[in-house]
Amino acid sequence: IKKIAVLTSGGDAPGMNAAIRAVVRACTYYEVACFGVFRGFQGLMEGDLKEMGPRDVKYIISKGGTILKSARSKEFMTKEGRKKAHHTIEKYGIDALIIIGGDGSFTGGMLLSKEFNLPVIGIPGTIDNDIYGTSHTIGYDTALNTVIDAVDKIRDTATSHKRIFFVEVMGRDAGFIALNSGIGAGAEEILIPEENIGLPKLLEKLKRSKASGKSSCIVIVAEGEKSGKNVFELSDYVEEHLPEYDVRVSVIGHIQRGGSPSCFDRVLASRSGVAAVEALLKGKKNIMIGLQNDLMAYTPLEKAIKGENKIDEELIRISDILSI
Ligand code: F6P
Repeated sequence: IKKIAVLTSGGDAPGMNAAIRAVVRACTYYEVACFGVFRGFQGLMEGDLKEMGPRDVKYIISKGGTILKSARSKEFMTKEGRKKAHHTIEKYGIDALIIIGGDGSFTGGMLLSKEFNLPVIGIPGTIDNDIYGTSHTIGYDTALNTVIDAVDKIRDTATSHKRIFFVEVMGRDAGFIALNSGIGAGAEEILIPEENIGLPKLLEKLKRSKASGKSSCIVIVAEGEKSGKNVFELSDYVEEHLPEYDVRVSVIGHIQRGGSPSCFDRVLASRSGVAAVEALLKGKKNIMIGLQNDLMAYTPLEKAIKGENKIDEELIRISDILSI
């Protein structure tokens, strides 16, 4: 392996820059040329890349977003699109590709690898933490910290007015952000896609909460939860059935994707970037680098894409006990 290309793809996540930095610097360390591809697979198709050295990635460890930019390319999901990407790979003599992104990005990488026999390594970077084969994805910890910071502030105003707040958090189809930030912020109720408690039970729990003397109530709502109502409809439903309650909604939104990465994400990204380059040099291909029991571990890309990363039921139990 003499030339490696690295790209970020899909939704950006805090810590992606730290991972880019680690890949570029590990390449320099091992005397491998490193190309940064701009705008993910779209940039790969369009030949938008440049060779990068260690000074090109200075001071980015603390920055959110991705200096390589990101994209969700529809064209790349077509065979024609991937042919264009392969043309760039041939033109620049690239031997392997490191993809920092989520499962959609890994699926694209797998196709490219299968069709053109190109070694591909995935580094999980998404705030959603919804990837099999790693306990943490890059960006997840920072997003959790952003959420608890926001919810702590919402709590201040909620208690001052004795209100119920429905707070919507991201996570796509998974409840990791909701469940863990909910516990971290001491939420009274957490609605996640993995467990539909049903609306009557929600009302009952809210009533119980108020009766127990609480002066505010925070309900964290994962964007993918399955009650069949969005966060505004949920709020209306509660107001309709419990008219004595004063209810408000707060959607945290894309703030969860930005900001300076936490130390945990910086270290995870640094370890993952180095591990990805070293894996390629060891002859590994089509694997994802992940964190398992605090060690860097390899998972076949196919398994990382198809495997289901299950929510820890124990956390649901803990949140129930603690919201008494
Ligand atoms: O996958 C990251 C994520 O932020 C999800 O949590 C969310 O559902 C989605 O991306 C939002 O995507 P977009 O930025 O395209 O609106």
